[in-house]
Amino acid sequence: MGALLWAEKHRPRRVSEVIGNEEAVAEFVKWMSEWERKAVPKQKAAFFYGPPGTGKTSLVLAYSEERGYDLVQVNASDRRTAEDLRSVLAHATASNAVLGGRRMVLIDEVEGAVMSAESGSVAALTELVDRTSVPLVLIANDVWDQRLMPLRERCKLIAFRRLRSRDIEERLRTIAQREGLRVDEELVKTIAQRSRGDLRAAINDLQAIAVPVTGSRVVTELLESREVELNAFELMAKVFGARSLSDGRGVLTNAGLDIDGVMTWVSENLQTQIKDPKALEEAYRILADADLHLRRASRFQRWELMKYGTALLSAGPGIVKSSTSERGGRFEFPSRIRFLQQTRVERELTRSVLEKVASRTHMSTSKAATEFLPYLRMMMKAGDMGVAKSLGLTEREVDTLLSKAPELQVKHEKPEVETARPRTTVRARRARRG
Ligand SMILES: Nc1ncnc2c1ncn2[C@@H]1O[C@H](COP(=O)(O)OP(=O)(O)OP(=O)(O)O)[C@@H](O)[C@H]1O
Ligand SMILES: [Mg+2]
Repeated sequence: MGALLWAEKHRPRRVSEVIGNEEAVAEFVKWMSEWERKAVPKQKAAFFYGPPGTGKTSLVLAYSEERGYDLVQVNASDRRTAEDLRSVLAHATASNAVLGGRRMVLIDEVEGAVMSAESGSVAALTELVDRTSVPLVLIANDVWDQRLMPLRERCKLIAFRRLRSRDIEERLRTIAQREGLRVDEELVKTIAQRSRGDLRAAINDLQAIAVPVTGSRVVTELLESREVELNAFELMAKVFGARSLSDGRGVLTNAGLDIDGVMTWVSENLQTQIKDPKALEEAYRILADADLHLRRASRFQRWELMKYGTALLSAGPGIVKSSTSERGGRFEFPSRIRFLQQTRVERELTRSVLEKVASRTHMSTSKAATEFLPYLRMMMKAGDMGVAKSLGLTEREVDTLLSKAPELQVKHEKPEVETARPRTTVRARRARRG
């Protein structure tokens, strides 16, 4: 597999290498031992759930590798229809006296099946759980979605939790040592803390700082962007949760983003939150107004106008959203939204990259887009082409990825009134004023 992402390269090969989550590991091993004693357990499927990067997929891979199982793996997110799922899995879950051998089936990212609700994938999975004659493991981050109830009832639920900082540090040290990398003890601690119990994120951070040439510059950029990302999600929840202007008050004061950043996040998330076309139009109009007030305030040094802009920005989208009684989708990182908005050719090229990644790692293409692509890009920008090479990317694919620099730009539709004025950030404007 070559020098792919370290998270992949250092995936545990044996169950004893899976760190933390001792209870989950023990439960799973016990459940598997029932199968192995030919006493088919009451629940024929295990359902792993819990936050990302905590060892769910790794445990199944390590177990099957260690005990010599043939593992059939399906990502529910990548399968379009229930029919697809059925045909792939019907085969896999039937006992096969001819081929012999031990087999188990892993269906990862089950929430993907829920999203494609109309295709009946959950029903197909449920049927499968009832009929399987080999151990079946389902995995999802969140198992409490109402639509998963029929599955939940039939499965042995096994909970995974965020890993302890201490355990993450230890794993980082092991990996650094294996890679011949000397890292500062403080840095190990910092990475572990910021990972919030997500070992994949921690290993990715470690690998990113190990990029040659650029050295420590990448360190701070990467770690900062992770933190801003978290703050931004919290901020979005507040902005889109506002029901009145007073709810918006003070929301932006402690934001980890400057106002342009907030504007980008809000405007790029409008479409994930508001589906009704009339309401969406209204929301765009409000943002355009907000933008206008903010620009005027700085252009004419009329700082009292700032408050109109910030009020509209921090409460407007939420007020519009509440008028539609829509639930709204998940908030997305602006660069991911942009990924979805790329032109078709770019998107196809990026997709072919993602497929290469997905086929070499145990990720769905959508997970590869969020977990892998940013790092790949960062490494390539730092001049490290090793990973790109080992993936067998073509020149065009490399070009496409490199040209998609994730710079933040405000992209919502608005009347361009003052195009001649050079664009300055609100933070810069504030600095000038003070
Ligand atoms: N408990 C663990 N022990 C050892 N390595 C781990 C553990 N958890 C995560 N890792 C590391 O992080 C990478 C990703 O872990 P894994 O795929 O198991 O996460 P996951 O829980 O399935 O996450 P997701 O919900 O995002 O699919 C692994 O390749 C491995 O390097
Ligand atoms: Mg996984």
